[in-house]
Amino acid sequence: MCGIVAYIGNKNCKNILINGLKRLEYRGYDSAGIGILIKSCNKNAESESHEAGLERNRLEIKVVKQSGKINDLEKLLEGQEVEGTVGIGHTRWATHGQPNQLNSHPHYDCSKKIAVVHNGIIENYAEIKEELIKKGHKFISETDTEVLPHLLEEILKTDPCANLLIAMQILLKKIKGSGAIVALGTDYPDELIAGRIASPLIAGISKDGNFFASDMPAILEHTHDFVVINDYETVRLTRDKVEIYNPEGILIQRDVFKATWTLESAEKAGYEDFMLKEIFEQPYGIRETMRGRITNGIFNFDELELDDDKIKNLKKIQIIACGTSYHSALTGKLVIEKWAKIPVEVDIGSEYRYRSPLVDENSLFIAITQSGETIDTLAAVKEARKKGAKVMAITNVVGSTISRESDSVIYTHAGPEIGVCATKTFTAQIIVMYLIGLYLAKRKNLLSEDALNGFINELEIMPAKVQQVLNNAGKIKKIADNTYRHTCFLFLGRIYGFPMALEGALKLKEISYIHAEGYAAGEMKHGPIALTDTKTIVVGVIPEDFVYDKMLSNLQEVKARNAKIFALVTEGDANTSKYADYTFEMPKTFEELYGILEVVPLQLYAYYIAKNLGRNVDQPRNLAKSVTVE
Ligand code: AGP
Repeated sequence: MCGIVAYIGNKNCKNILINGLKRLEYRGYDSAGIGILIKSCNKNAESESHEAGLERNRLEIKVVKQSGKINDLEKLLEGQEVEGTVGIGHTRWATHGQPNQLNSHPHYDCSKKIAVVHNGIIENYAEIKEELIKKGHKFISETDTEVLPHLLEEILKTDPCANLLIAMQILLKKIKGSGAIVALGTDYPDELIAGRIASPLIAGISKDGNFFASDMPAILEHTHDFVVINDYETVRLTRDKVEIYNPEGILIQRDVFKATWTLESAEKAGYEDFMLKEIFEQPYGIRETMRGRITNGIFNFDELELDDDKIKNLKKIQIIACGTSYHSALTGKLVIEKWAKIPVEVDIGSEYRYRSPLVDENSLFIAITQSGETIDTLAAVKEARKKGAKVMAITNVVGSTISRESDSVIYTHAGPEIGVCATKTFTAQIIVMYLIGLYLAKRKNLLSEDALNGFINELEIMPAKVQQVLNNAGKIKKIADNTYRHTCFLFLGRIYGFPMALEGALKLKEISYIHAEGYAAGEMKHGPIALTDTKTIVVGVIPEDFVYDKMLSNLQEVKARNAKIFALVTEGDANTSKYADYTFEMPKTFEELYGILEVVPLQLYAYYIAKNLGRNVDQPRNLAKSVTVE
């Protein structure tokens, strides 16, 4: 996730910005940059003309940016004169365009009199860009962000009454999407202007100047006094004032709050671990992944770029992935086959290339990998492309190897995941699976408009339903506190619940080191039931769906063998609790969509069990975030 830090005060801001950006490194990034308001320097001061003298006093925004780490930016800054007391800084986590120097922030307008940093996604940037190009604006990057300084420039040019603050207010009304935006202008040397739509931004106040930051850690060493900025508000920050304007442009009062967090707890937003933070970020990750694809009931997923002929002739979809991503592929198979009536084969990356797979041009090949770097998945992609397949990658990391080695890419927008355990990237992948299934069904006219709209509307409220589950995390914790001493866990589910049972078991093994297995519940009597005794916990995924009765019978079977049962049920299900020792209720949804609500309590369950056992959940033993060796 991108990070912003900005300062206006009486100190030199270069080090304030660089140190602030370092404090935001935990958010994940791939490039960084700063922009500082400086006096134009004329090296030949003694022999300068009158014009040159004027030029020398002119202000300019010196932008220095670099791909890679902040150390790389520091190296670039060595020996450069960038003295100034007003500046903006940014760590970029690419969403539009490769993570290279050109795409890094800050971005300028045409005249280089305005520079902007931005965190978020501008959904309608392509339209805005097109309009601005017609008006003569020239763009140099592939980013959505670059439209912002140009748009500010255009508003200032065409509206004689506008200043940078008013321009920002107009801009917020023109853009769709999300954004925390901070702008700096040479004609406005005593202020920084910010606007916010659904991306984090706070203001910080100190006696030596004021700040903007995406997150407290960036400026905690300078101040503990903060001001919250809400959606569609704009802010004028001067050396001694924070002026907040409501969406109607009216100046409002806002109380200052005192943060009591330490630096470490602030990085994790007060959560004990990144994993817990990331579990709780899932409503955001789901919403961001749907952003621009489902908006107010309108479904647009044309970015799949499949023409009518390709869809008509599509005989098979082949999905490959590893670990947690493999479980999202299994969900993909279920929904695509059900909705779009296209056979789907799912393979584990490490197996695929060694099993002499058949590839034909009428199949679609999808590779899922949150990191985009998993060697087994990449090798499978290579194998498939060698045989003539066109590969579509689904990944969370822009510019990752898979995004370069595939024919097309669909990004999940869960934000960077720091915990080794995949959580929010998984639910984002599941969303993409739903979108692909629904999109293919729509293109093939296999779902009525009502049915399609029903799913779309339900997906739009899914973040709220996931939030409802998260609000009851305390109940899961209690169940974990009561059961963490057990030594054998069997996770059972059927149909849509089966991939979630696999994922629940994987989460538990990964971070608690307890033996856990996921099974299709009907398979129990073909072997695993022999394991059940009083030491076994059976976690049953039993939503209200068409296999509910079958699943209930499976749970009764293990109950009869003295296992303890923890059942995930739909709210209002009074029946399952007759057999289960513990239950957790999920909100109602369509049976195809339950997975996303089921996996969240399973992630929490694994988390709380591991914490009870004193495990390092963010960095479990023997595991790495990207598995880049075979
Ligand atoms: C998930 O919690 C694991 N860390 C692991 O199974 C992971 O899903 C697997 O290595 C695949 O990673 P990828 O999605 O980055 O390809």
